[in-house]
Amino acid sequence: MTRLQVLVTREVFPETLDCLARHFEVEANPSDTPFTPAQLAERLSSKDGALITLTERIDAVLLARCPKLRAVCNIAVGFNNIDLNACQARGVMATNTPGVLDDSTADFTWALILATARRVTEAEQYLRAGQWTGWKLKQFLGVDVHHATLGILGMGRVGQAVARRARGFDMNVLYHNSRRLSAEVEKSCHAAYVDMDELLARADILTVHTPYSPATHHILGAAQFAKMKPGAILINAARGGVVDDAALIEVLKRGPLAAAGLDVFENEPALHPDFLKLTNVVLTPHIASSSEATRRRMAMLAAENLVAALTTGKPPNLLTP
Ligand code: DGY
Repeated sequence: MTRLQVLVTREVFPETLDCLARHFEVEANPSDTPFTPAQLAERLSSKDGALITLTERIDAVLLARCPKLRAVCNIAVGFNNIDLNACQARGVMATNTPGVLDDSTADFTWALILATARRVTEAEQYLRAGQWTGWKLKQFLGVDVHHATLGILGMGRVGQAVARRARGFDMNVLYHNSRRLSAEVEKSCHAAYVDMDELLARADILTVHTPYSPATHHILGAAQFAKMKPGAILINAARGGVVDDAALIEVLKRGPLAAAGLDVFENEPALHPDFLKLTNVVLTPHIASSSEATRRRMAMLAAENLVAALTTGKPPNLLTP
């Protein structure tokens, strides 16, 4: 019997490939370099399914070239790289990896909060450059995280995990979300619901955890930044595109924002060149979920989704438009 054929678009873990190889004939990109769109279309054109990452764009043009394709399984919880309407129109199942990366992403959000507020990377660069001549009272004065007001925009699983961690810092936690959470969840997160304007006006540290979609494109731009407190800090470990990078650079240069911690960017991996000139930003390359255990779980969950999609038609994390 001919086996179903699947493509793995990027280097993954050995156990991910073992899982797929038990069910399918697997063609795997052994390298961490993404296929070009043309290479991806060529390789996918004969496949029944694919394990993909957030850098592969799955749209109507690509799907038109893949007549056998029945499933695309993202190794990510975010799925703005997949056109779900185009998938539905072609009968292609699409899946993501919710639930397995919340804690690691929340941990990393805290790494950005602390590094940004306390100027960790800026101070380390100074030290490595041999500029440290001794202790000084006013050296690298940062802002306190403890007892500050944390604003969370987007209170899904990751936002809630970030909120729970804020208790250890005795913070006042406010959130805004498209849907208000139940009283029980609010209580477990020790977070109070406020409208967007109040969130912007009161947060000392604003961290964004909304998925990217046309509805959240530039949800934080010049108009919103103008409503923020002087000296406030912005954290984004969600998706580039929810923040208007050019507008952010302006307010980091001229206020009211004091600093930003950013793991994601509008046109990543390309950065707006001005980010590199600013000293009041902490910049990381989209690694918020990147602990070894979590990235292994994400890849395995995506593989399990692909197996279920092609063998039962019912993947556990099926996405609908
Ligand atoms: C996700 O899962 O969407 C993350 O951004 C991947 O790192």
